[in-house]
Amino acid sequence: MKALILSGGMGTRLRPLTHAMPKQLIPLANKPVLFHALEAVRDAGITEAGVIVGDWHKEIRQAVGDGSRFGLRVEYLYQEAPFGLAHCVLIARDFLGDDDFAMYLGDNVFGDGITGPAEHFRRTRPAAQVAVTPVDAPQEYGVVETDPGGRVRALREKPRRPRSNLAVTGAYFFTPLVHDAVRAIEPSRRGEREITDALQWLVDQGHDVRAVEVTGWWKDTGRVEDILDGNRLLLDGIESRVEGSVDAASTALGPVVVAPGARIVRSHLRGPLVIGADCVVEDSYIGPHTAIGAGCVLNEAGVTDSILLDGAAVSDVNGIHASVIGRSARVGATAAGTSRHRLVVGDHTELDVVA
Ligand code: TTP
Repeated sequence: MKALILSGGMGTRLRPLTHAMPKQLIPLANKPVLFHALEAVRDAGITEAGVIVGDWHKEIRQAVGDGSRFGLRVEYLYQEAPFGLAHCVLIARDFLGDDDFAMYLGDNVFGDGITGPAEHFRRTRPAAQVAVTPVDAPQEYGVVETDPGGRVRALREKPRRPRSNLAVTGAYFFTPLVHDAVRAIEPSRRGEREITDALQWLVDQGHDVRAVEVTGWWKDTGRVEDILDGNRLLLDGIESRVEGSVDAASTALGPVVVAPGARIVRSHLRGPLVIGADCVVEDSYIGPHTAIGAGCVLNEAGVTDSILLDGAAVSDVNGIHASVIGRSARVGATAAGTSRHRLVVGDHTELDVVA
């Protein structure tokens, strides 16, 4: 079985971060979302992966390389524009050949990976299989309707009156029959070739399409809240590892990762959290559920439930919460006694300050 990992797209809902980087390289617990995906694919016993890339192809190639450090052989497939998930299958025809494959959305993370659903597919080998999970608000997702045996009868995109609570996640498994399906369907009203339409086509042709529930959590990191959720969920699974230095005047509680070269001085760390290589943290408190990238500088700062990307700096500001701070961005305080905010704010940025 091969893998097709989708790492193109625009990531418009993640601006301004995606003005500077592809969304698949945004770090969760200090590791790009896409790396979590590659590891999940490898752990499922797959060795060959085609990675769909778009405008950010250079950055993705540079980060992933030939895939060998993930134990994969990676080939890149260029998609001119995000014409839809089924379009990705169309353009991957030569790479996929007549092999079965797992299609994995490169901005999705699964707490238990995709090994379970992959094994189920190998064992039962229906025409296609979608990994699903029960959700509270199915009207916001693609939803499957199944018969009692788990065979898919219908797939509906954001139905107003959902007939099940099973949402389609970002992992699909296909036999080569899907190539007929993606050729047969037309672009949807939003102009994309939808994989749900391809799956529905298979169902309508009488093929066996199955839904298999994932164990563990699933996160689609489409929006900032999702990134913070994903970060939180991944941090909940970490174990302490202190390779940098934490001085005697600092305290550390709960699982804490301090990467080599990081220096923690007179600060309070409340895990779970990760602090990247070569950070300097002085007179600050960090965590819980916080990931600080490499080379960040925090001075008299207070950060909880947040992500700082590499090279970010925070000084003299407390109460930073549920925030994402971009690479080499700086957050500081104005002189005491003034009630003014000095803001240099990039395009599509969001700020909430105390009124
Ligand atoms: P989406 O989250 O549906 O799309 P997007 O990344 O363009 O985001 P936004 O809606 O905020 O603009 O995509 C899911 C995954 O599939 C993501 O990793 C991008 C990838 N993708 C492609 O590679 N090609 C495509 O044509 C589409 C639509 C998505």
